[in-house]
Amino acid sequence: MSEELFKTYKDIFDRFTINALWELITQKKLEGLESPIKIGKESNVFSALTKYNERVAVKVYRLNSVDFFQMSKYLEMDPKFRPIKQRVRIVAAWAKREFFNIKKAYEAGVSVPQPIAIKNNVLIIEFIGTKFPEHPTDFPKIKDSCADPEEMYNLLIKDIKKLYQKAKLVHGDLSEFNILERGGVPVIIDLSHSIPSDAPSADELLKRDVEKIVKFFNKKGLKLNVPDVLHYIKKA
Ligand SMILES: Nc1ncnc2c1ncn2[C@@H]1O[C@H](COP(=O)(O)OP(=O)(O)O)[C@@H](O)[C@H]1O
Ligand SMILES: [Mg+2]
Repeated sequence: MSEELFKTYKDIFDRFTINALWELITQKKLEGLESPIKIGKESNVFSALTKYNERVAVKVYRLNSVDFFQMSKYLEMDPKFRPIKQRVRIVAAWAKREFFNIKKAYEAGVSVPQPIAIKNNVLIIEFIGTKFPEHPTDFPKIKDSCADPEEMYNLLIKDIKKLYQKAKLVHGDLSEFNILERGGVPVIIDLSHSIPSDAPSADELLKRDVEKIVKFFNKKGLKLNVPDVLHYIKKA
């Protein structure tokens, strides 16, 4: 990392995050951050470019002001990720879990961003938005677009079923806010709350996800009902 780049990052990130970014830059996963896409409570999302001018999304989990209780609760439901006391390690485990949830979904053929790299609290995934040299803009969420609700729903429900049956995951935070639209096709993002489909609360979370999706699409004129949709997802 150049002296100049380091100075810029030093004002924005803690040392732990700078180290992770430095390592990812050394590994040639990216050249440097481009611009902020969303500054959130738990994480900040940036666009970045690789040396081939491919745009990627960099999700940086914050070490401060994150909901640790919430994170620990989800980590406990997932036997592979036991609760860890240390703050830094909890955030890193949280980021890692999201990365591997995305990877599982991606490998099962669900429309999610391609996972690229993970280092501690920093995830690199495919950027769902404009390509270089255009200005970095993420594609709209379906809450703001969705010109053809029926077609969008048909694609989405197949993905939710694939996520459940093949990736064996329940999204856990699915709504019109966590689905981007790329050329009429849904791309599911934000798998940080996803849990294995055989976890004790999976049924409850799946029902909540389905309720939100049904509500959204029914407002758009579809006539869906929760039990039928749940049945479709769960039947082999
Ligand atoms: N892969 C991506 N490509 C483009 N934009 C993204 C990508 N991932 C996230 N974003 C943008 O960042 C926002 C926040 O990301 P998200 O993963 O939903 O985190 P959270 O909702 O927990 O803050 C998204 O609503 C979207 O606007
Ligand atoms: Mg989100």
